Amino acid sequence: MNQTNSGVLRSVFYDLDSSKWSRTVCGLIFIMVIFAIKYSQKKPKKSVVKRDINANRKYGHWTPDYNFKTPTPPPYPNWDINTTRPQPYRAFRHKYSITMAIRNMDFHQWIELDNEWLKFHNHKLERTREKKQELCVTSPEARDAAFELLDELWNYLPHRYPSLFQQTPDGLSNLVTGESWSFKNGTKEDPMYIAAMLLQDDIAIMIEQEDGQYVLKGGAIMLAGFWRLKDKFNLPLSAIHTSGDVPKYKEKLQTGMEKFFIRQTCDKPVVRNNYFIQTDGNLPWSKSIGDEDKDVVGWYTAEPAKDINQLYFRSERQSLRRLPKTGATIFTIRTYFLPITELAQEPYVPRRLLNGIRSWVPEVQDYRGYTKFKDVVEPYLEKMADEQEAKGYTVETEPEVYPY
Ligand code: HEM
Repeated sequence: MNQTNSGVLRSVFYDLDSSKWSRTVCGLIFIMVIFAIKYSQKKPKKSVVKRDINANRKYGHWTPDYNFKTPTPPPYPNWDINTTRPQPYRAFRHKYSITMAIRNMDFHQWIELDNEWLKFHNHKLERTREKKQELCVTSPEARDAAFELLDELWNYLPHRYPSLFQQTPDGLSNLVTGESWSFKNGTKEDPMYIAAMLLQDDIAIMIEQEDGQYVLKGGAIMLAGFWRLKDKFNLPLSAIHTSGDVPKYKEKLQTGMEKFFIRQTCDKPVVRNNYFIQTDGNLPWSKSIGDEDKDVVGWYTAEPAKDINQLYFRSERQSLRRLPKTGATIFTIRTYFLPITELAQEPYVPRRLLNGIRSWVPEVQDYRGYTKFKDVVEPYLEKMADEQEAKGYTVETEPEVYPY
């Protein structure tokens, strides 16, 4: 520092009295500390590229992703096989529209079990005693995927439902029924049968082919109500849906669905809900559309319903996820089933269901058997809706919550 500068500084210092001086120093220190904190937090930006080793795969050629681990779920809060009630899915709006209607699913909520577990299990046991080969198939192409599915269930079920399932070194034991399933070192049992015996759901395995189509190669379809595994086995998604005359499949669903299946990654499971009205109270198979063992079944064979007590609300919660090792897509179908008369007690439900049904376009009416129950359900829902509206449960006061 030269003479002139030090002289200027000195005179500045002398101009400050001691309290001003200490305030200035404190201010400077404060500013320096703020800068120090700010810069110490600024880490060099790394470019985070998500590695998806299957993004550019040749269709039908999946590379196992050993880095992906399904998150282990926490126990379902207060779950009890006697008291936990089924989720009240009410997947109808005032206006029906045909869309894929999928939404993201939390991994922890993959499988839903409740106090109807035993009822579903007993239906499955009874039906497989009679016709196991028809209800349950694992083709050679789906075998590895079926075992991978069992591994996923081995990890998931005892953590989510610890009062029902316990891990054993080679499988799972059921703490309520005493059943024990060994599969970790292979088994002679059909793996899809084992999966079905653990869950309330029906399950399908879709395998990607070299042309990008997803084909049904394995399944345990025991309580589907109105479709049979033997009619859909080995079919691609499109034929599964068109053979059942799913309304507007080609126009509104096919392209989106096919793209979705190809692009779905292991970390993005999804779920969708639907609903039907059934003219009998049989959960496993709706006898009204014809005997399950007949060649052809369908609404056209059904008798029109005569009494509201015949009518049931059937709603499915379906989940779709891709398994990391085999790349197979697992489709679960869980049915929720209750009498219409019970459903209609719920606030706002009669009017919304009535409006929903009345908004079905002709193809949807045909697919859902509208003419077989409309003369019974419509006057009933109208009466129930009027009663609720008189008590103030009107469309205007209905909460804006999407009713899954
Ligand atoms: C994003 C995935 C999917 C969508 C958006 C979808 C859509 C639909 C729709 C709209 C229907 C008419 C009933 C309803 O409203 O639910 C239907 C029926 C059906 N779907 Fe799917 N589906 C999907 C995946 C699958 C998969 C993976 C299977 C494999 C088994 C499947 C099998 C069926 C069957 C068997 C029926 C009944 C067909 C019949 O009446 O014969 N679906 N699906």
